[in-house]
Amino acid sequence: MIPSAKAVNLTMNREGIRRLAAEELGLPTSAYRFADSIESFRAACDDIGYPNFVKPVMSSSGKGQSRVKSFDEVDAAWEYAQTGGRVNQGKVIVESQIDFDFEITLLTVRAKNAETGEIETQYCDPIGHRQDSGDYVESWQPQAMTPAALEESKRIAHKVTAALGGCGIFGVELFVKGDKVWFSEVSPRPHDTGLVTLASQFQSEFELHARAILGLPVNTSRHSVAASAVIYAGVDDRNLSFSGLNLALVNPNTDLRLFGKPEGFKRRRMGVATARAETTDQARELALETASQVSVQQN
Ligand SMILES: Nc1ncnc2c1ncn2[C@@H]1O[C@H](COP(=O)(O)OP(=O)(O)OP(=O)(O)O)[C@@H](O)[C@H]1O
Ligand SMILES: [Mg+2]
Repeated sequence: MIPSAKAVNLTMNREGIRRLAAEELGLPTSAYRFADSIESFRAACDDIGYPNFVKPVMSSSGKGQSRVKSFDEVDAAWEYAQTGGRVNQGKVIVESQIDFDFEITLLTVRAKNAETGEIETQYCDPIGHRQDSGDYVESWQPQAMTPAALEESKRIAHKVTAALGGCGIFGVELFVKGDKVWFSEVSPRPHDTGLVTLASQFQSEFELHARAILGLPVNTSRHSVAASAVIYAGVDDRNLSFSGLNLALVNPNTDLRLFGKPEGFKRRRMGVATARAETTDQARELALETASQVSVQQN
């Protein structure tokens, strides 16, 4: 019933999940090469072409990641990748750039059906998001997309989560252009962009994960249109406090989650604002405004 060790192992390392998705499951992905030395890296960049994306195989939240526009930038990208890996093993993936219309997270839940006892796959409505330097800054649900693209997204999510196994929620990241969908990566747990479900769904991504692991049935349906926006520390400091919460919360359709982190960095996420509205555009606007009303300062 629990998230499987295999899923954690494979998704922690970009090489494991990319080879599983593209080579074993035959899912559409960007073109890619792996490199573990400056020489093999230069060759990989030339092979894939420009612009391309370079990422340490063990990293998240855009750390050590860069978009390389020409051969001139290759050596600097290698140096940068060496500083950003979670484990300093030096290996990187070079990916061709996908020219997508938008990107989504398809929260996919593997949970037991109460009546049959079988593990079923269920999907939340697609979550659209905007990333800045490889890091999520806002998300909204639902993301409008064609029925064919939604069906293809579910097919990809089903295939990859079934191969990973175990129960729980997965954040399947996909790039979409028209009816075409590419698999990007997957988290075997709640996803940062899925924080929007705190405001949009009967069961948030956290409840869904807990229920699935406990062997309980889940309800992935959405009751509202909503959006989330990140609150950054904006300063490098310890001992921080928040102000403006009263202004941010004046609208009853908004809410805040402050993460209680002991130390801030300029680009460290300290919390998130959520907002509900009639349309995703309105919800995004309200969530951004709510987040901007919160300021973080040194005590
Ligand atoms: N091959 C690609 N083509 C186009 N855009 C890309 C590609 N790879 C990454 N990106 C952009 O960079 C973002 C971050 O990439 P990715 O999800 O692989 O990194 P990450 O460090 O795991 O980020 P996170 O932990 O926030 O999910 C993507 O959401 C997308 O906006
Ligand atoms: Mg990602």
